Amino acid sequence: MGSMSKMGAVWRSAGSSVAGRLFLDRQAEFWMGEVDPVRSLRELRARVLEVIEETRDTKTFLLRPNGAWRGHRAGQYTSVEAEIDGVRMRRCYSISSAPSEALVSITVKHVADGRVSTWLHENLRAGHVLGLGAPAGEFVLPSPTPDKLLLLSGGSGITPVMSMLRDLAVRDAIENVVFVHHARSHADVIFGEELAELAARHAGLRLVLCLDDDASSPRGFDEVYFAKLVPDFAERSTFLCGPKPLMDRAERLFESVGASDRLALERFTPALRLLPTLSFLDGVQVRLGRSERNVVAKGQGSLLEQLERAGERPAHGCRIGICHTCKCRKQSGTVQNLVTGEVSSEPDQEIQLCISIPRSDLELDL
Ligand SMILES: Cc1cc2nc3c(=O)[nH]c(=O)nc-3n(C[C@H](O)[C@H](O)[C@H](O)COP(=O)(O)OP(=O)(O)OC[C@H]3O[C@@H](n4cnc5c(N)ncnc54)[C@H](O)[C@@H]3O)c2cc1C
Ligand code: FES
Repeated sequence: MGSMSKMGAVWRSAGSSVAGRLFLDRQAEFWMGEVDPVRSLRELRARVLEVIEETRDTKTFLLRPNGAWRGHRAGQYTSVEAEIDGVRMRRCYSISSAPSEALVSITVKHVADGRVSTWLHENLRAGHVLGLGAPAGEFVLPSPTPDKLLLLSGGSGITPVMSMLRDLAVRDAIENVVFVHHARSHADVIFGEELAELAARHAGLRLVLCLDDDASSPRGFDEVYFAKLVPDFAERSTFLCGPKPLMDRAERLFESVGASDRLALERFTPALRLLPTLSFLDGVQVRLGRSERNVVAKGQGSLLEQLERAGERPAHGCRIGICHTCKCRKQSGTVQNLVTGEVSSEPDQEIQLCISIPRSDLELDL
């Protein structure tokens, strides 16, 4: 038998069982990755086609995902994986493009001293390949589209609501939308030109820009000013995303008029209500059962941050308690949940490392 036909026989017999199928999938995966790093049967990857400078600190990365991408709903986020100094890190980014667009975009603000946003801004170029997470999140435009919409954003928080607006524009469904966006100045309005064009083209879109450098209006979110701007806000299905102070104040305003059920919000940073009042234990012994290591967790921050400081690299995504990538079983010991304040002392409980802090020595299934 010639070597090619021998190989054919091996592949045919391998393909006839489950183990063989897995073997073939792994082979195919390997060779596809060798030929073209963006091609993969299972892993989501995307090639960067273009990098667009939106403002002085924000860039859009236009991506062509591989066949594993199954599309997104307007408002959802994906996670991006980057290898920085030999360490794989993941961060979530809202998808700023409309679901119907062939290319997917994420729009990233550079956070001073931020590890991943700095890396993306300084290193990611057209032609590079990125690892992505499947689109996720409940911050989405409902179907059917509500009659009266309010999109309320600040800074880079515009990204998920821009995806919603673009989606409505593509479907010619901008009927009664108020879009209020907060930024430092005109030059800092991400997608400023496109917003102005959409407002000029669609009678059903009212665009209001609240700019910090505009002397005729208050800086940041102001309840009285906002209620005058959008007097019927409590009747509108509202989608809110922006910096924490804006979100906290808008959330309280909706609560105060009994309209919380009309407000959907997406946070980029954790709403850890307990952190300012917490005391941290100094030096907690953590036994990592699966890797059979003992580490000392210390300092401020979540258990995830404490383990990272101790040299561990636990899996994570959003770092704010929404994606569940960091969940693991606590086999023994006590932790406190940073969002709810709940204390868990029972053995064999599932915890999220990014929103937990140790309250005793711990044993984790990591
Ligand atoms: C669901 C979701 C969607 C998101 N979508 C976007 C998006 O569309 N565009 C975007 O630019 N970011 C978005 N983010 C934020 C993003 O995931 C990262 O947190 C951000 O890029 C900072 O990561 P880093 O590694 O650069 O900073 P890190 O190294 O993680 O943090 C450095 C410091 O910056 C602070 N910090 C973290 N994030 C911010 C922030 N957004 N603003 C100010 N300070 C911050 C941290 O508290 C820390 O002190 C989203 C986050 C979530 C959870
Ligand atoms: S990293 Fe997303 S829930 Fe912890």
